[in-house]
Amino acid sequence: MMPHNILVTGGSGYLGGTLLSRWGSADLPEYGKLFALVRTPKQEEEVAKYGAEPLTFSPRDEGAVREALVKHHITVIYFLIDAFESTSQVYFISALAEVKKSTGQDVHFLHTSGAKIFSSHAGTPTGEPILDTDPYLYDIQKQQVPPIPSMQTAINTNCTTVEQGEKFGVKTYIFVPCVVYGQGEGFGNQTSIQTVSIVKAAKGVRRVYELENTTQEPQIWPVCHILDNITLYLAILRSILNNEDPGHGRRGYYLAASGSVAWKDLYSAMAIGLANRGVIDDATVTTAKEDDVERMAVALKTEKSWVGLQLAGRCTLTAAHGKALGWKPQFPPEHILEAAADEVDLILRTL
Ligand SMILES: NC(=O)c1ccc[n+]([C@@H]2O[C@H](COP(=O)([O-])OP(=O)(O)OC[C@H]3O[C@@H](n4cnc5c(N)ncnc54)[C@H](OP(=O)(O)O)[C@@H]3O)[C@@H](O)[C@H]2O)c1
Repeated sequence: MMPHNILVTGGSGYLGGTLLSRWGSADLPEYGKLFALVRTPKQEEEVAKYGAEPLTFSPRDEGAVREALVKHHITVIYFLIDAFESTSQVYFISALAEVKKSTGQDVHFLHTSGAKIFSSHAGTPTGEPILDTDPYLYDIQKQQVPPIPSMQTAINTNCTTVEQGEKFGVKTYIFVPCVVYGQGEGFGNQTSIQTVSIVKAAKGVRRVYELENTTQEPQIWPVCHILDNITLYLAILRSILNNEDPGHGRRGYYLAASGSVAWKDLYSAMAIGLANRGVIDDATVTTAKEDDVERMAVALKTEKSWVGLQLAGRCTLTAAHGKALGWKPQFPPEHILEAAADEVDLILRTL
């Protein structure tokens, strides 16, 4: 059997860049070649430093995807570039099926989704914790009716990935990052998403506001240090390369989280850092009124109804799958509160 050739996408991003930076020290089982999808000559140079052979093609061009995968016998794909739409994922999965047909090898597609798609914003039931090993997670997602209608696309993308994998005999994995924090180690973007939104909104309105909670349920969210997020990506890969099925398809969901924190605690910790640096006038977190939310939307360059999607909500998805593979997060959930001032500094440097 030929060894696996692996394609990593998003190498210039926060998650993908840190994945590449940790690749060499990960002590992975034997594989063939590592490829990285890039779109500029500068990125070509950068990924080569990690021993990755750069490939340039559009992930939204079905023929180009097929040609690249077949030509290079790519059998494992780490997809880190679009949690929302499924166009590229569908192309990659059917191209993997062709490689499988011609080589007889097992093929694997890991899709990076996000905790928002398993949260109150997406209509996931949040009354109880839901384990990422729940055998009905696919069915739960199939039934979700999101209060924010455009989230339906992202929910469908998770389900489509699983369905296409089943249809074409490709093993699929739904990897779910949450609030990721800590400085990225890649050559491109080194900051995350939700913590950046908190800082952007605070900068715009000179205060950190909590959004009004119209439910009885506490607003909590899973969190994960960037390095723990990456060790879970690598633990799944190690299992694939060792031919031990880590759990795929309907049993292939992986939340990368060490635990959860309340948004209010995260806001308060970041507000102290922001006040100390003079970005906001007062570190006290208060509840936003209608016009505050409007101003936050302007700062975030989004619609008012989308502010909560960027920095609030409730997600009770709970990580169990990674632990079953022996993955142990190094940083406890409270660490994000201790690291909040550093996170603020990092983000202010890059904004
Ligand atoms: N960071 C988080 O906290 C978090 C949480 C949940 C989910 N996620 C999801 O995980 C994924 C990666 O997140 P991230 O934080 O690493 O994002 P990021 O820093 O913005 O990186 C995105 C990467 O995707 C690449 N990309 C986008 N469109 C592409 C295309 N058409 N062809 C080739 N490359 C393309 C970008 O390349 P360029 O540099 O050339 O633009 C970049 O390398 C995203 O889908 C995100 O929604 C992230």
